[in-house]
Amino acid sequence: MNKAFPDNFLWGAATSAYQVEGAAYEDGKKASQQDVINKENYEKRGFATADIASDQYHHYKEDVALMKEMGFTAYRFSIAWSRVFPDGVGEVNEAGIQYYRNLIDELRANGIEPIVTLYHYDLPWALVEKYNGWLSRQVVDDFAYYARYIINEFKDKVKYWTTINEQSIIVQFWTQKCYIPEELRGNNQLRYQINHHMNLAHAIACKLVHELVPGGLVGAALGYAPVYPLTSKPEDVMAAQNAHDLRNAYYLDIYFKGMYTKSAMIYLEEHGLAPVIEEGDMELIKEGYSDFLALNYYASECAKACPMEEGKEIRYSGVNWSGKKGDMNGFETHPGFYEMCKNPNLDTTDWDWAIDPTGLEYIFRDIYTRYNKPLMITENGLGAYDTLTEDGHIHDKYRIAYLRDHIKAMKRAMDYGVEVLAYCPWSAVDLLSTSNGVKKRYGFIYVDRTDDDPKECARLRKDSFYWYQKVIQSRGTEL
Ligand code: BG6
Repeated sequence: MNKAFPDNFLWGAATSAYQVEGAAYEDGKKASQQDVINKENYEKRGFATADIASDQYHHYKEDVALMKEMGFTAYRFSIAWSRVFPDGVGEVNEAGIQYYRNLIDELRANGIEPIVTLYHYDLPWALVEKYNGWLSRQVVDDFAYYARYIINEFKDKVKYWTTINEQSIIVQFWTQKCYIPEELRGNNQLRYQINHHMNLAHAIACKLVHELVPGGLVGAALGYAPVYPLTSKPEDVMAAQNAHDLRNAYYLDIYFKGMYTKSAMIYLEEHGLAPVIEEGDMELIKEGYSDFLALNYYASECAKACPMEEGKEIRYSGVNWSGKKGDMNGFETHPGFYEMCKNPNLDTTDWDWAIDPTGLEYIFRDIYTRYNKPLMITENGLGAYDTLTEDGHIHDKYRIAYLRDHIKAMKRAMDYGVEVLAYCPWSAVDLLSTSNGVKKRYGFIYVDRTDDDPKECARLRKDSFYWYQKVIQSRGTEL
């Protein structure tokens, strides 16, 4: 028998607006950049669009009832900026904001704490058309306008706020997470410029929560992977440190120290990649302090030394588009600093993500020791192919095994003193993956649709649904 989790520990799961809601053009909503990107993905790769996704817009009551049945005490979801402000700024769309009022009221009526993310990749398309979205500094003011409205609207109903989802992942996979015009894609400095604009937006949102929400708590949701050295050779260990500084500390130091990690910044400056920082920016970033850090943890990473060599160039992470193990097309490389590589000690998912529960314990211990702030999990999960049996079951024992091992790892960190507020794995219901359509599934609740055919999006309970229900009921003693 495992030791019980604290009484007030929040158990739930997560989703994001464009990945579950659908109703992309309904009730006044206009396109977000994800509606456009996913339409292109459909045309190029046959992955589902975001038009219907899991149709949560029309199924939210049913979904909340299923969450309640599982015993959730929290649900982490995001608000679609373009549902509330179809043009990014200006007139509010009454029907759009009403949807979130209804959802939040429904959650609270069922004893489920809403954990709201303000921004999860889905910038209003109108702002991309107007000024290239996050590439322009103007977006910071427009984000502030949107964030003030939302935070003020829900200040009495939402205690936990997360600002921007996964800045680190946006830098790596910028054309998937942001709409970047073809002609600008070769300019890697822009990745860090976008990130700087997001740092400002994040800081503003933190300040707004502190100003407007009585007792409110706020932090970023960071996509985070520990970086292990490929071997114990000192040059590989140093490379892993370099990778950690540029991929992890570069974000954490902003959130908790209000500064850019020096080593990472010097590397960026030496390579013409550093963002332009204006007067007053760093002061603003300092003022927008975080109360906690939300972590999205799926996998660990590995790095090795990368000596400068003729012809070796800077490159960023590849993607496994096919869902066949081994199809990952390339690793991030910064010659003279580090090169990411496969960890030969770990098994992977079908999409080449290393499965590593110990990595979760490791990052919790490491981050808590460095920054001493409470942590929560806002994503953690296994993307897998599920099979719906003829008699309507989904036997996802692989997902149960993954989640069980990660919950155990989280608990070990807690037993060593790490303060953890919540566990919200990915995902509550099956949804549209950011890179692989709907056939890569994550949910406790199966959504009956395919990439080509949305059908009725009927909901079915997977085996993991019943397993998680028991975990919550027993406060983690029965895993
Ligand atoms: C995180 C994102 O990076 O990973 C989610 O915050 C995403 O939006 C999740 O769905 C899993 O990634 P993918 O590409 O399998 O959907």
